[in-house]
Formats: sequence, C-alpha cells, structure tokens
Amino acid sequence: MQFLSFLSSISFGMTLLCAVFALLVAFLNSTGQATSSSSCCAALQSALQSQVFNVNTDTYQRSVESYWSLDTQLRPACIVQPRNPQEVSLAVTTLVTTNDQSPQCQFAIRSGGHSAVPGTSNIQGGVTIDLSLLNSTVYHPDKGFASIGPGARWESVYKELKQYDVTVTGGRDATVGVGGLITGGGNSFFAAEHGFGCDNVVNFEIILANGSLINANNSTHADLWKALKGGSGNFGIVTRFDLTTFPHKYFWGGMVEYDGFTTPQQISALVDFTDRIAEDRYASLLPMYRYDSSSDFNRVAVAMHYTKPEAFPSAFQDFYRLPNISSTVRFDHIYNFTREMSPLAGLHHILLTQTFINDARVVQKAIELQNHYISEAKAKAHGNDWTLISLFQPFPAVFGQLAKHKGGNMLGLDDENNHILYLLGYSWDNTADNDLFNSIGYKVFGEVQSYAKELGVDGRYVYLNYAGKGQNPLQSYGEDNAREIARVAKTYDPQGVFQRQVPGGFKISMA
Ligand SMILES: Cc1cc2nc3c(=O)[nH]c(=O)nc-3n(C[C@H](O)[C@H](O)[C@H](O)COP(=O)(O)OP(=O)(O)OC[C@H]3O[C@@H](n4cnc5c(N)ncnc54)[C@H](O)[C@@H]3O)c2cc1C
Ligand SMILES: *[C@@H]1O[C@H](CO)[C@@H](O)[C@H](O)[C@H]1NC(C)=O
Ligand SMILES: *[C@@H]1O[C@H](CO)[C@@H](O)[C@H](O)[C@H]1NC(C)=O
Ligand SMILES: *[C@@H]1O[C@H](CO)[C@@H](O)[C@H](O)[C@H]1NC(C)=O
Ligand SMILES: *[C@@H]1O[C@H](CO)[C@@H](O)[C@H](O)[C@H]1NC(C)=O
Ligand SMILES: *[C@@H]1O[C@H](CO)[C@@H](O)[C@H](O)[C@H]1NC(C)=O
Ligand SMILES: *[C@@H]1O[C@H](CO)[C@@H](O)[C@H](O)[C@H]1NC(C)=O
Repeated sequence: MQFLSFLSSISFGMTLLCAVFALLVAFLNSTGQATSSSSCCAALQSALQSQVFNVNTDTYQRSVESYWSLDTQLRPACIVQPRNPQEVSLAVTTLVTTNDQSPQCQFAIRSGGHSAVPGTSNIQGGVTIDLSLLNSTVYHPDKGFASIGPGARWESVYKELKQYDVTVTGGRDATVGVGGLITGGGNSFFAAEHGFGCDNVVNFEIILANGSLINANNSTHADLWKALKGGSGNFGIVTRFDLTTFPHKYFWGGMVEYDGFTTPQQISALVDFTDRIAEDRYASLLPMYRYDSSSDFNRVAVAMHYTKPEAFPSAFQDFYRLPNISSTVRFDHIYNFTREMSPLAGLHHILLTQTFINDARVVQKAIELQNHYISEAKAKAHGNDWTLISLFQPFPAVFGQLAKHKGGNMLGLDDENNHILYLLGYSWDNTADNDLFNSIGYKVFGEVQSYAKELGVDGRYVYLNYAGKGQNPLQSYGEDNAREIARVAKTYDPQGVFQRQVPGGFKISMA
C-alpha cells in the first residue's frame, strides 16, 4: 500500500509537472505568434502531442462520424485520444490548469458514443476526450473478474471472454460502449439473475479533477464506488471497470417477429412475464412495437433470451402460442446475440423514457398513440426512411433487491413493485424532419405520462441511459440518492470541474 501510494504520488508529480510545462508552452505560443486554435487545444498539443487531433485529420473525422446518432456528431475544436490512464490524467490537468473560462476550454467525455442526446459525450467548439483507445478486456481467472476499458464496445468484451467460457453483465447491443452503459446502470440479459451492470463492478479506477488516479471499491473510497453506480460522469473519468465474471458457453434466444394484429395478446404476455420474472431469473424479454415507413407495416419484434442452455423455456410460453412472421431463436453465444440486436447508426433520433407500475393499459395507450400519429407523420415527413418504436422492458422488484444485496447503487429502483420501462424511440434520415418527429415524440410521451398519472400508475423513475433532452434522471433517483451524489461529487471534485467545465451529460448540479 505504502509503496503503491508512493509510486502514484511520483506519477501525480510528473503529471503536474507536465501540465505546468504545457501551460508554459501554451503561454509562449499565445504571446508569440497568435495561434489559430484555442489555448486549451494548444496546451493539449504540447502535453500530449501525437494524441491530439485537429479538424483536418482523418482520426478527427472518424471519431466524429463514429457517434451512433447523427445529432451527436458535433465538431469540437480538437479531440484527444489518451492511450492510458496517465494520459487521461495529463489531459484533465492540462484542461483544468489552462482553463481560460472560454467555451474552447470546456470538454466532453466520450466512451462508446451511444448517448442520443447532443452534447452528452461530444462538444461543439470545445475539447472531446475520446476514450476509444482504452478498449482492452483482460480476464483475471484467479480474481473472478475482468478489467475492461471504458472505450471498449460490448462485442469486443464478449469476444475476448469467449475463449475462457465466461462473460459479464454487459450491454445487449454489440456496438454500445462500456463507459456510459455501466456508469448509468446497465440493463442486460442477466439483470434478473445478477442485477444491473453497475451492481457487478468490484472496482472502478478513476481519474479525478486534480489528475489523481484512485480506485473505488467496497473497502477503499466506498462512497465513490456506490455513487458511480448510476451517478454517471459527475465525479471524474473512469479508466477501468473490474466486472465480475461468471461461466457462459452458450444460451437460448433470438428475435421473433409478429404481425401488429397480435398486439393485444402481446401486451398481456408482457405484463404477465414481468410479474412472473422473480420465479425464473434466467429469462429476459424486450418487445419493440415498430412502424417502418419503408415497409408501411406495424410489427412487434420481441427479443427473448434465456441465459441457460434450455430451448423453448416456459417463461415465454404465451409468446409461442402467437403466430410469428420470423424467428431466429437458437442456441448461441452472447457475442452473436448482441450482434443481432444492433440497430442502424447514422440517423436522427429522439429517445424519451419513463417507468410505470406494471399495467397493461399504459402499454396499450403508448402503442395506440404511436399508431395514431402515423398518418400525420406520413403526411408531413420529407424523408423516406423513418421508424417509430415503442419499446418496453420489465423493471421488476428483483432488480432493486439484487442491487441492495450487492452493496447498493444510486438508481433508486423500487424493490417492492414491478415496473415496466417505456422507451419511445423514433429515428429518421432527413434533417428537414427534425421538428416533426421531435414534436410528435414529445406529444405522444406527454400524453402517455398524463394517462398513467390519471390511472395512478405513474412511476417516478427515469432510466439515465435512455433519458432524452429535458429529462431529469438523477432527480428521479430520489432525494436521498441525489443528495448523496452531490455530496460525493463535492468530496472528490471540490472545484466542480465536472459540473462546470464539462457541461454535457446529466449533472447533479442541475438535477
Ligand atoms: C443501440 C443501443 C442499444 C443500447 N442497449 C442498451 C442495453 O442493452 N442496456 C442498457 O442499459 N443501455 C443500453 N443502451 C443505452 C446506453 O447504455 C447509453 O447510450 C450509454 O450512454 C452508452 O454508453 P457509451 O459509452 O456508448 O456512451 P457515451 O455516449 O460515450 O457516454 C454517455 C455518457 O456517459 C459518460 N461517460 C462515458 N464514459 C465515461 C467514463 N469512462 N467515465 C465517466 N463518465 C463517462 C459520458 O460523459 C456521457 O455523459 C443502448 C443504446 C443504444 C443506442
Ligand atoms: C481497440 O481500438 C483500436 C483502435 O481503434 C482497434 O484497432 C482495436 O481493434 C480495438 N481493440 C479491441 C479489442 O476492440
Ligand atoms: C480496492 O482499492 C484498493 C486501493 O487501491 C486496492 O488495494 C484493492 O485491491 C481494491 N480492492 C478491490 C476488490 O479491487
Ligand atoms: C467486497 O468485495 C469483495 C470482492 O468482490 C468481496 O469478496 C467482499 O465480500 C465484499 N465485501 C463486502 C462487505 O461487500
Ligand atoms: C415461430 O413459428 C414457427 C412456425 O409456426 C414455429 O415452428 C416456431 O416454434 C415459432 N417460434 C417461436 C419462438 O414461437
Ligand atoms: C456465431 O456466429 C458465427 C457466424 O455466423 C458462427 O460461425 C458461430 O458458430 C456462431 N456461434 C458462436 C458460438 O460463436
Ligand atoms: C486530489 O483530490 C482528492 C479528492 O479531493 C484528494 O484526496 C487528493 O489528495 C488530491 N490529490 C492531489 C495530488 O492534490
């Protein structure tokens, strides 16, 4: 311990020295010839040289284009791609010490870039710290966990762990990033069995605002360990997640598509499933009610997965009785299942989410309203390719119970009542339709919320990872949790760097 902290103080010292040097260089640059880029990009360039990319580089262009949603492909003044935690630390100290209060010194933190809210993990005119190169997965069989970089995509995590016949509680879509998904919760195929992704983190390695690298786990910085489980980017930059591993070779599941006329039976099957999940923790269900302009069809695409090698388990029996259009159910590896789930990138999006007490009437209302607005969308849309989706996920009491059992998180999940999460997700190809789909989206969402309130089944909970612009997930965690997130943020970032200099994402100072 002593030795370790001695080593780390040397490295902080070096980090600070480098930052001071970078400052000096930036100062000399600015007093000498007027440089075109901002003081912060110039200082970063001096400190991190080859890892800083300006607008006219291919790496910059590829980074911008690799955000999942078109709406988040903003253009920072420069992008920095650290190769290790020390370079993350150097980037942070450089940005903090050079900060001239201009917008060019504000920065964003990006892992997989799958947030759909503009400015969450990217920043127009500022600096984006792109963690894409921190993408390794290292399995430690003796310790029972894997050390995973924030910039890894889940497909690479599952692929690496496949050779050891183990896996982790990660995302269900191949290309989603680790950093955002875990710090925001992390729903997975294994949620009813093992809890959320964040509940399975034994240790976070994190760079704080003053550049120091610390570990947060259940014995050291335990308050930060717990706060990071749902508290998102309010405390620092996580550079490594140690995630518990468990055996996995293959399991059963796939995508089953149904015609829209099965909707009434689909809804009651979903509600029953949600109430019964505690009896069979291996089952995971994710129905999407979808209208595609290109096919002009209403379809129900149901992702059903059973995390044991058992075919046609009774957990989904109500669904087997319905006539399907197509089915891919099979035995397979999680790597392949997640590759099957990834929706197209490169479109405009609106995502809005809310949980409700498990109640068929709200699900039905959400689908009815979506259908109701199809004709308006058809009449007014400029683009040819747009999709309206109402997606539902069981949020049963067992999720909250498992979280408690594993040391607790910040999500404030109800551990007594079964809920259903509603995710409204519209996507479209034509920029001219931005107003149209945003306006329909907020209208439908608002009407569903009012209806749930009328019935007395409105849940307060807003899942951060799906929350849209204007939503307040941190507040929805409950007063005690929000207060604790604020306290921990103040403890580890007393100057409020991650509140003020990093404007994107859901901030506790704004909750
Ligand atoms: C196609 C698709 C499928 C999805 N599937 C799932 C799913 O199965 N389960 C689920 O729970 N969610 C799912 N999501 C939601 C997903 O969890 C969020 O979009 C999440 O933010 C993605 O993580 P990311 O690293 O790609 O995000 P980014 O956009 O890179 O980051 C999102 C937020 O997290 C912060 N952040 C990122 N990395 C760090 C870090 N290292 N330290 C501190 N803060 C950080 C960022 O600053 C930003 O505020 C899905 C989303 C999409 C688009
Ligand atoms: C990590 O990122 C680099 C650079 O993009 C890429 O070449 C490499 O294949 C990635 N590694 C994994 C394990 O995904
Ligand atoms: C917790 O952090 C301390 C301090 O870095 C470290 O020594 C210890 O190994 C960590 N524990 C776990 C379970 O990672
Ligand atoms: C702390 O974490 C370690 C490693 O995951 C685990 O063995 C131990 O039981 C945990 N202790 C508590 C009090 O949760
Ligand atoms: C889908 O329909 C086919 C043909 O009726 C049937 O054999 C199959 O079992 C169904 N699949 C599921 C998952 O219900
Ligand atoms: C996954 O998919 C690939 C390609 O379709 C296939 O070759 C492989 O057998 C599948 N299963 C596993 C367990 O990887
Ligand atoms: C960095 O900040 C943390 C949390 O406030 C503090 O414990 C630590 O001593 C600081 N380190 C340095 C080198 O200032």
